[in-house]
Amino acid sequence: MNSTFGTAVRREAERLSAQGKDANQIAKIVCDQDPEGYNYGIGIVVDGRGQAWPTSETLLRHARAEIDNSLLGEYMSTASLAASLKEAVLRWQRVPEDYWDRFSLLIPSDAGTGAVKTAVEMALQLYPFLRAIGVEELSWPAYKAVARMSRISCREFPIGDVMDGPDLLRVYQAGPMNTTGRVQSGESMRARAAAAKGSPVLLDRAYSGFEYARALDSRGYDEIMTMSYDDQIRPFIENDVPFWVSVSPTKSFGTFALRPCGMLLVHCPDSSRAEEIAALANVVTRARGSSFEHPVTRAFVSALVHDLAHLEREHADILRRVATAEHTWKERSAGTTLAEQFTDSYAGLFRNPRVGDEAQAAIYDAHLYPVFTPGRCRLNITGLPEEQDIAGDHVAVFARFCQG
Ligand SMILES: Cc1ncc(COP(=O)(O)O)c(C=O)c1O
Repeated sequence: MNSTFGTAVRREAERLSAQGKDANQIAKIVCDQDPEGYNYGIGIVVDGRGQAWPTSETLLRHARAEIDNSLLGEYMSTASLAASLKEAVLRWQRVPEDYWDRFSLLIPSDAGTGAVKTAVEMALQLYPFLRAIGVEELSWPAYKAVARMSRISCREFPIGDVMDGPDLLRVYQAGPMNTTGRVQSGESMRARAAAAKGSPVLLDRAYSGFEYARALDSRGYDEIMTMSYDDQIRPFIENDVPFWVSVSPTKSFGTFALRPCGMLLVHCPDSSRAEEIAALANVVTRARGSSFEHPVTRAFVSALVHDLAHLEREHADILRRVATAEHTWKERSAGTTLAEQFTDSYAGLFRNPRVGDEAQAAIYDAHLYPVFTPGRCRLNITGLPEEQDIAGDHVAVFARFCQG
């Protein structure tokens, strides 16, 4: 191998790996060491000028007020807003009003991750025979950590599979998948819902509506959110599946820096279990320390209840940024193997194409820093600069080495 800038960075990445750093950490460290580096590994929305997408103005406004309200050093809670909050979350998710009484809502302190963890904890209590979560291959790595901390295993299924197993909590990402960007069609989600029957399911929704970002300008926000609900959630309601939806605020509203609560919807078609679920919701909330709410959580609740229209506008702005980046990738990768990653089967922030062994050093050589895992290169598509010539060069490098 010739000694180039890229091979030196690759050696540094290998050294960091031997020290126990994971692939995401390595991408950031090596990028930070390169003044000319472009960060394609970061897990946040980037604005086209290399900056993180700004924090939600709406949430900031409510958070400032909430900090002022915190002068009196008492525990504070939004319990009095619980009914309006549940309605706001269901309205945002475009769940029709007819179904609202089948749902309850919990707000675990620690964003979408807390919602996933809480759902797993509840499912293990309600269905003591569960021994594993089922996830798709190349899924969000934190699922394995959640399973380990719950002392159950994490079983992987091929992407797009209908998961099956008597002791399995099926975890389906209900929108674009982290890490691959793959989106399951309404047809595929209907097959999954029909096969679940009485078994519990967790729909993980970290990217609400992102799969239709590209249709935002032609169809409008309300319509794309409804389309997302129709494909990803409705089949499970109509099949009377007992399910959780863990909804993350982070990517949708731009709340990376503030980290308010997650939103965990519990769908219980069997009304005879409603009291049991309410009692369990109370226990799990107490046990996780989530009943004493952080000021930013109280601010987020206030924003959802009183300012949903503003939050939705901010969500639409983020979707527009994703759509703009996606459009440039699609245009510039046309005719290459990378183009497949920008068809309608893919969406959202991430893509994770296959790469050969030579790719890592060559991509570093161009000062581009995605996340390399064995045989794969994960990129955040919003890392693409808005400056068209530079964007064209970057896409060309990835297109040369990524095999779709
Ligand atoms: C699939 C998936 N689920 C859940 C989460 C958790 O989101 P949060 O950052 O809100 O904790 C993420 C975040 O990356 C994710 O990709």
